[in-house]
This record gives sequence, structure tokens and C-alpha cells, in this order.
Amino acid sequence: MNRRDFLRATAVGAGMGFVRQLSSVAAAQKNWDARIEVLLNEPLGVISPDIYGHFVENLSGVIYDGIWVGEDSRIPHVNGIRQELVTEMKKIRPPVVRFPGGCFADSYDWRDGVGPIDKRPRRTNFWFSGENPQAPPSHRYDPNRFGTNEFVEFCRLIGAEPYLAANLRSLPAEQFYRWVEYCNSPAGATTLADERAATGFKEPFNVRFWGVGNESWGCGGDFTAQEYAVEFRRFTTWVPDYRHELAFIASGPDGDNLEWTRGFFEEIARKGSRQVDRIYGWALHHYAWNLSRGKTKDWVAGKGDAIKFDPVDWYELLREGDRLESMITTHWRLMEAADPGHHVKLVVDEWGPWYRPGSELTAGDQLEQLPTLRDAVFSGMTLDIFNRHPEKVGMGCCAQLINCLNSLYLAHEDQFCVTPVGHVFAMYAAHQGGQSLRTNFSAPTISYERDGSSAWFWGLHGSASLQGKTVVLTAVNPDVAKALETQIILQGGGAKSARATVLTAPDMHARNTFAARQEVVPKSENVPAAEGNLRFQFPAASVTKIEIQL
Ligand code: AHR
Repeated sequence: MNRRDFLRATAVGAGMGFVRQLSSVAAAQKNWDARIEVLLNEPLGVISPDIYGHFVENLSGVIYDGIWVGEDSRIPHVNGIRQELVTEMKKIRPPVVRFPGGCFADSYDWRDGVGPIDKRPRRTNFWFSGENPQAPPSHRYDPNRFGTNEFVEFCRLIGAEPYLAANLRSLPAEQFYRWVEYCNSPAGATTLADERAATGFKEPFNVRFWGVGNESWGCGGDFTAQEYAVEFRRFTTWVPDYRHELAFIASGPDGDNLEWTRGFFEEIARKGSRQVDRIYGWALHHYAWNLSRGKTKDWVAGKGDAIKFDPVDWYELLREGDRLESMITTHWRLMEAADPGHHVKLVVDEWGPWYRPGSELTAGDQLEQLPTLRDAVFSGMTLDIFNRHPEKVGMGCCAQLINCLNSLYLAHEDQFCVTPVGHVFAMYAAHQGGQSLRTNFSAPTISYERDGSSAWFWGLHGSASLQGKTVVLTAVNPDVAKALETQIILQGGGAKSARATVLTAPDMHARNTFAARQEVVPKSENVPAAEGNLRFQFPAASVTKIEIQL
């Protein structure tokens, strides 16, 4: 079974770089295991804050229980939105949040989620069939209490921009225009602006980011790339913009599906080279799910366990995630034929590991999994990939924020915890808006045995950025057993002082739960600077940020 079949089955009834790895010769000099060279005079481009974005889908416990606890709840909330989530999210400076899906988006009628809250209809959720029969009714039948207004309010509370995903499969283009009109038409200008005002939102939301369909190669309509390109053109021609820029994001490939990218851009460009100018982003989705060590490509059989794993599973997951870097560069090169000036950016709006069910903290929550230290290392690695390609990646959205796959937070009723992934986002927020710097990492390759044959993974990797006089260096040491004594050299400048924040734990399976919220938390320490350079020991299985003052 593949993901497309899985999603279809769930919906209809079944249950739902390339690495710049230098030789280790330089690092092998006496006393050093590894070496990092930050090239202060080799800027790569500004890191878009939007690559630190999030994704929330109306799926099981993500919205109802995770974000929305209700206006009458005894759980602390702001107009129905979970207070603790808001407080935690403010710490990570979330730039953008995508909603309402995912596959859910192409079954969603935005009109169901506006108007007086008590009069909104209940609808069968796209994910209905995969829900446990004991799941709360709100997970199976969407009560629509969390709609456009509530989502925009959530974004305002946490200081993020909304990114709405429009339904291309089951609503006409006219409804897309109406949703834009509801959100963005000036106060008093249209009937929909009046409807918005009547529920307390007089001023326009000015939503800029609009996804036009989701996974249109699968749950979003099973289109061919050419068919989808035609639909995309139709949906995005003459959308009223109310003098506010609209950024359309087209439904891009599943991982390394180059045919989808080639087919879409060829068809778009057939109508003239300027057609690409209408596209802001090309959405690339990549989930790391196949831990079968090459034995199967079956979507269900190939999955691994979220919390029970050995070191080989650890490295295999990282290898699967690390493929994202070559996907970014190959899709980017392919897009060049139709878009030589690279107007269109890559929007990696779904990424993360995807394990088999069984680890969920709240029994029955569909697709919920319990992130461990492995997922923190995976997430640091992914954010470093984005940082290294600032000219290519315009946005990233981790799938998904709460009670789902690679979640930053888990919540159920009045219980809440920040996962190791959440801590990584807090650490990496310092890169937002920084100038990405070329940085060379040199460390011994990790060799391991993969079912009788030898396999390898890189030894240390990361990214660096500069803002004013501060360099932010982040790196992951994926070795489950070996710390790396590392020399950090700043080419073109010198360090006056430095402070490291490290996320690690003695056990690679370590995780936070409602009962034990502090098992994996970052710790900070000063790093001595000598002659402008640094020496630091990156612990085994760790994510590290070093903030360096020049
Ligand atoms: O994140 C869960 C699902 O994965 C999304 O709904 C879909 O877009 C993807 O296949």
C-alpha cells in the first residue's frame, strides 16, 4: 500500500544531500574529532522566518482537544483557545500556520465554519473512518466551532500569519474567491465583510498565503500533473486581491516525484512564460516513514515504531529524512526550465517522521505519536537543511503542531507537555531572518551494520547564520554513542564570547509525557573562546545551538 492508497482507504472506510561531508582528514588532527568552519564572508541568503512554520489539520485531536478547548471549558483558555499552547508558542516565534489541511482541506466547505458559532452545521470529518469508535464525537463529526475566525484569532494570539488551504477537489473556484472575499474584503464593502463584522471581526484579515488544493496527486483529486496545472490556472485567474498581495501555493510533489514537478511546470508554461509569476510557492511534502531497511515499499508494512527502536532504526530514520536535501535541490533544478529566474519558492509544508500507530499519549488519537530524542535530532537536521538553502526554501510547516505526527506539543483535557521537537523549535528560532553562512562540517562518518551489510551516515552537520554581531550555529550529532570534541573556526572574524544550548539525554528513547514533562529539556553553558575560535564537545545524540558574539 502507498500513502495515496492509505489516505484513500482511510477516507472511504479502512482506517487511516546531499551532505557537505568533508573528509575527516582535517578533523583528525590531534585532539579533535571534528571541525566546523563558519565562513563569515560567504553569505548564502536571508533565512525566511517562514521556514519555521506549522501545520494544523482538522484531524482527530489536533484542533478539538489540542487547540480548541471551548469557550465554556474549565481548562484555561482565551476565547476557547488553549492558554498553555498560546503561552508556549509565543516562545518559539511562530511565523506562519497552515490550516485546515492536509487532505481535510479538499473536503472542507469554509462556509460551515463562519457565522454564529451555535448555528454552524456538523459535518462528517474527512478522517472519520480512521477514528476509533470511542473517539470524541468532535473527531468524527466536525462541529465547526473552530473555523476561519477562530483560526485567525489563534494566529493573532501567537503572532503568526495564517496560511489557508483551499478546497480544489470538491468546491468550485467561485467558492475560493468567496473565501478570499470573506477574509480580505474591506469593512463594509461586501456582504461577506458584513457577515465577518457581525461575528466580531470588522477589519479584514488580509490573509496572504493561500494553498490551492493539497496533494492533488492523491487525496486532493487524483489529478495528473497536467490536469492539476489546468485547475490551478483556473482557480488563480483573477482572484480579487483587495490591494493586498496574495501568495498562491500550488500542490507540489510527494517527495522525489520529479514527474509531478516536470508535468506541472511544463503545462503552466505552455500558456506563456509569465504564468509562473502567479505562483508564490511549490509545496513539497516529505515524510520519513520507511524503516523496513529496504525490504518493502508498503506504506503500512514499512513503518517503524515511534518509541521502540534500536540504533539502526535511529540511523535509518535520519537517512530517510536527510533525503529531503536532495529533493530540494533536484526539484529546484527542474523548476528552472519553466522558471529560470526562480520566482517560485519551495514550500515544504508537510514534513516529519511518520510511525506506525501505538505510541499515542491519548489513546485513540489518530496519527498521534510520541516524539523522542530521535525526533528532536531529526527536526534539527531538517531545519538545518532549510537554513542551508535560503534562496530555495520560502516556507516550511512541520506536520503537525499538536497531538499528531511530529508534534511540538501534546495535550489532552487539562494535561499538556512540550515534546523534544518543541524544544528544537525554541532553540532554532534564533536563525529566523538571519543571513545564512556557508559552513563546512568535517567529522568521521558513522558506520553501522544494516542487516548484515554495512551502512553509513554522516557524523556532524548543521547550519549557521549571522544577525548583526551574533552568529547562530546549530548542529546535530547523530552518533548514538560518541561525543565529538570539535574545533569551531570563524573565518573572517573572531569570537568574543559564546553560549551553547544543548538538547540531549542519556537514553536515545527519552521523551516527555504528561507525567514526566522535563525528561528532555535544553541546558545552557558558556563556551570559552580562545584566539577567536571555539572548542566544544557535541554530546552523542544531541541537538546544539551555539550563539557566538563577534
Ligand atoms: O499530515 C497528515 C496527512 O498527510 C495530510 O492530511 C496529508 O496532506 C498528508 O498525506
